[in-house]
Amino acid sequence: MGTLACYDPGMTTPSPPAWLAKNPRADRALPFGRAQQFVVNPNGVPELLDELGQCPAHRVTPLHALPALAARLGLGEVRIKDESQRFGFGAFKALGGVLAVYNVLSGAVGEAYHFSTDFAALLRGAHAEVTSKYVFTTASSGNHGRSVAAGAKLFGNRCVIFLPKFTSADKEAAIRARGAEVVRVDGDYDTAVAECRRQAEAKGWTIISDTSWEGYESIPRSVMRGYTVLVEEIIRQWRPGPTHVFVQAGVGGLAAAVFGYLWARYEPRPTFIVVEPRSADCWFQSNQLGKPAPASGNADTAMGGLACREISPVTWPVIGLGADWFMTIEEESVLPARRLLAHPLEGDPAIVSGPSGCAGLAGLVRVCTDEAAFKALGLGKHARVLLINSEGDLGEPLGEPLG
Ligand SMILES: Cc1ncc(COP(=O)(O)O)c(C=O)c1O
Repeated sequence: MGTLACYDPGMTTPSPPAWLAKNPRADRALPFGRAQQFVVNPNGVPELLDELGQCPAHRVTPLHALPALAARLGLGEVRIKDESQRFGFGAFKALGGVLAVYNVLSGAVGEAYHFSTDFAALLRGAHAEVTSKYVFTTASSGNHGRSVAAGAKLFGNRCVIFLPKFTSADKEAAIRARGAEVVRVDGDYDTAVAECRRQAEAKGWTIISDTSWEGYESIPRSVMRGYTVLVEEIIRQWRPGPTHVFVQAGVGGLAAAVFGYLWARYEPRPTFIVVEPRSADCWFQSNQLGKPAPASGNADTAMGGLACREISPVTWPVIGLGADWFMTIEEESVLPARRLLAHPLEGDPAIVSGPSGCAGLAGLVRVCTDEAAFKALGLGKHARVLLINSEGDLGEPLGEPLG
């Protein structure tokens, strides 16, 4: 990637660019307190990962080092957690929806019989007289819907997924292949959320949403708990761990799980940076306003998993109070970032990513090619940067390698 160059340190420092904003509420001395633990409870996560290890389909996903890229960007280390390998599913979302479906069903059995069941028993169809009446539903840009469909299929439940207009035919086919019904909504992700809520209420279905709203927080929290498994893996894979963490956000569930769990486990905690497409900058805008605010654009972006106009409000105590920086990226940066992963600098491993998967890298490259941004974030040879490749190639074209 010939155009990729670190800023020239000989020049005087201009002011930070408009696409980068500091969080005025972030206090690095703030402990991971009760408000944060309500969002992401760090207790029991190592045990959850160990339990998952007993599942034959489970493999810890790789955390690749990219030393050539780090050198090119003027950084000490860059590592990327490769969720394209998760369960053969192709995205980190596999960890959230399945666990949340299980939690609903096991909770129902507990309530009916006053004892706790386990994953294996529900897989065998035990207590079907309690569990089979549940119909699961969610709105999704694709990946989360596939995870909920997979969970419903595992336990033998009916499932209905609401998709926005832009979700690819491949993603729809992957959801149908897991036995779910699909309703296409004539609108974007937030329109799909509204329609899902309307139909679920009318029909008595159980919503397994990755985003929250007033009075609906418990299930999005259990979805995020599923994501913390990938962070626990990172902690076991990398000592001493990152100094800087770039995470791409849609509603903020992934960022809350990653930032929250690292915040709970590291002292001092790393610097957290939220990356969003410019047209779906709901976190960037919420940071400016100091409370949940809609995106400034129409969320029309190639980064389908990030195409959200509204944040998940339950995540505010972690992201709104704990993320250090918010930044946006342009659509044109997606293909170069995917190609940089697929056709890496010499010596770095090749990684398959999708448009939302590579967005954290696109953000890192943007910062490292802007002197003021690079300095503002405290990057340099001492920095160890963590990225998450949140999805593999799920049918979106990549094009030719850069010359
Ligand atoms: C591949 C991918 N990356 C990142 C995200 C963002 O996750 P969240 O909406 O929890 O912020 C999504 C959400 O669907 C996604 O599918």
